Amino acid sequence: MSIFAVICYKSAMKILLSVLILVIFSSCAQREVSIVPYPNNISFKSGVYDVSKSEEVCVVNIDGTALKNISSFAEDIGADIKISDSPSKCDFVFLHNSSLPDEDYLIDVTRSCVRVEASMPRGFNYAIQTLRQMGTKIPCCHIEDSPRFSYRGLHLDEARHFFGKDEVKKYLDIMAYHKLNTLHWHLTDDQGWRIEIKKYPELTRLGSIRKGTCIKRNYNTNDNVPYGEGMWYTQDDIKEIVEYAAMKGIDIIPEIDLPGHMLAALAAYPHLGCFGGPYHVWHRWGVSEDVLCAGNEHVYDFLEDVLTEVCGLFPGKYIHIGGDECPKTSWKSCPKCQAKIKELGLKDDGDHDAEHYLQSYVMNRVESFLKTKGKNVIGWDEILDGSPSKSATVMSWRGEAGGLKAAELGHDVIMTPNSYCYWDYYQSTDVDSEPFAIGGYVPIDLVYSYEPYTDDMHEQERNRILGVQANIWTEYIATPEHLEYMLLPRLAALSEVQWCKPESKDWRRFLGSMDEVCDAYVKMGYNYAEHIFGVRGLVEPDVEKGCARVVLETQGDTPIRYTVDGTDPHIGSLKYNGPLEISSTCILKASAVRKGVLTRPYVQIFSFHKAVGKNITLKHPSESEFASDGGKELLDGIRGPAIHKSKEWCSWKSKSLDAVIDMEDSEPYSRVEIGYISNKPSQIFNPVNLSVYISEDGENWAEVASVSASAEGEFDSDGLKSMSVSFRQENARYIRVKADCLPIVPEWHHYQGRQAWLYIDEVIVE
Ligand code: ACM
Ligand code: ZN
Repeated sequence: MSIFAVICYKSAMKILLSVLILVIFSSCAQREVSIVPYPNNISFKSGVYDVSKSEEVCVVNIDGTALKNISSFAEDIGADIKISDSPSKCDFVFLHNSSLPDEDYLIDVTRSCVRVEASMPRGFNYAIQTLRQMGTKIPCCHIEDSPRFSYRGLHLDEARHFFGKDEVKKYLDIMAYHKLNTLHWHLTDDQGWRIEIKKYPELTRLGSIRKGTCIKRNYNTNDNVPYGEGMWYTQDDIKEIVEYAAMKGIDIIPEIDLPGHMLAALAAYPHLGCFGGPYHVWHRWGVSEDVLCAGNEHVYDFLEDVLTEVCGLFPGKYIHIGGDECPKTSWKSCPKCQAKIKELGLKDDGDHDAEHYLQSYVMNRVESFLKTKGKNVIGWDEILDGSPSKSATVMSWRGEAGGLKAAELGHDVIMTPNSYCYWDYYQSTDVDSEPFAIGGYVPIDLVYSYEPYTDDMHEQERNRILGVQANIWTEYIATPEHLEYMLLPRLAALSEVQWCKPESKDWRRFLGSMDEVCDAYVKMGYNYAEHIFGVRGLVEPDVEKGCARVVLETQGDTPIRYTVDGTDPHIGSLKYNGPLEISSTCILKASAVRKGVLTRPYVQIFSFHKAVGKNITLKHPSESEFASDGGKELLDGIRGPAIHKSKEWCSWKSKSLDAVIDMEDSEPYSRVEIGYISNKPSQIFNPVNLSVYISEDGENWAEVASVSASAEGEFDSDGLKSMSVSFRQENARYIRVKADCLPIVPEWHHYQGRQAWLYIDEVIVE
């Protein structure tokens, strides 16, 4: 080899090596940065900027709130603040850049300099949050960040349980950390009125206190412990909180829920109801039939007075006026309401009855009044049932349908579908290990997966979606620790739905950042739920092999240990090295081993029986949004979790399970069991009977057994259950299993008359 060739070879190797180092370094830098929500535009360069060497933070052309927030950031990193008219001599500088939109920010980091630009306090706040999350050795990078949605909200119900000023401020702090900009504050409801209204002192004196609270879902019980004494905000408290929020770039939207959910106000001022009371602040949850009288002019005076004071306290552009769950029962029999209907010429028209149009009248009249105060209104999606004003913003909570319809109709929309955004719902299927919750199932990965646009939405409709919000209703949440447990880290997932463009979202990257995010929660003094560090399982039946294939995963590369004998895993249990194939009845339990401690086990029950993997035909296809419509989940040997919103559950609305199973040449059988779930708040009831028929040709059937169940009572317990019948041994080729659903929700239920649901997870043949 010539000398020239050797030199070339050496140079090439050097270049290769530096490229390699650069690649490794920049990918390391990228991996080490845990920012949530992740910036929409970030590129890394080599090197880091060491924050500890910054003695000064310069600000150029910045004053007011932004200057205050930058100063407290400077203090936190141990630097002095310096007002400067030129950035050139500073190595850490914040600059006003009027060309940027309100919520945008730029950060440029080199080894020697950090430069931050924004036009408004919010932009600077977001830049500071990003810098804080990048730590003290900031990787050199260039960030040009802006949010996907302009409305990034979180709701707090303080009517059912009250948390107080300190916790609300803490709530605002963690919202700011995740770059949210709106708190929806639910301050009044049937169970308590929590905002001082000077003209109506009885609202807080009487309306804040209930004599007791029902126990769990047993609405006719009462713990007889008065709740709510002194649990309301004075107008000074509210001003303090609004000011605190403003510093964090957060607007507060108060909700005065009307004309339903007003029992606390009726208890204080009974003349506002259709029949004058007496009314009591409610001790139970649900929907009360006692609502404001829509035919009484004093009610409108009351609402205008209350809202005048509310408008004076909240400087933002929106007031939320509720509109949800307002039964029309009392209006139908109230002479004043009926006279109002007549006066307004309202009629049943096949779409809605006159009383629904009366509710639209109430909402629209209140909206017109609020417009005179310069405010826009938000209402829950029930306001679409009638003749809503086009200028009302619709908050979609009963799934996504209301929001999509509202966008089509030209309303602005905020999406809060309960299927992703109700965080009073369970976050784990292991409900026995969770604090008691209202029901439902919204795990963090489901929150993360939420996409508010649908494929067939037009640009115009997309532009109507202002943003997304999660709601925390507090019927079963009474303490700050529990509130934070329900909030975190689901809020981290929501913040990426709200902030990140779809191409910036990445579940794996997000999951990888959870160690640092949760460490930050602890440092800031928050309680959070640890499920994200546990084991998640994906179970798929493999009909060919006659087994169930189980994939287990956890956060990072944490080892997983498992057992199949029902005992809790320990450090010496089997190590998970890849998908498991389960082919006999067993209980699988798996835990991740984090820092030497085992997480709460993931549990899955497998019950193999003679019909696993056999062909099944359903007379009525399953209507479940998660399971298939053909019913194969009924013969997969996998019992469902105690949460009905998961793929193990087949379901029918006011229809029967009616399944034909081809047993082929199976061994004789003599017993059939169905696994079902009861969840009355979600309109899911017991089957009312179970019948089994057999046939050799699939056409001529003979009944072999049947059993009836009594219709479920109001206070029977909910949960996982089963029902079975035994019979003389048979070996006919076909079995037909029928279980009838309650035709409609019974009278004692507050959704009486609606369709009832039946949920079945397995048909076991033995
Ligand atoms: C609601 O959850 N009733 C809006
Ligand atoms: Zn009335």
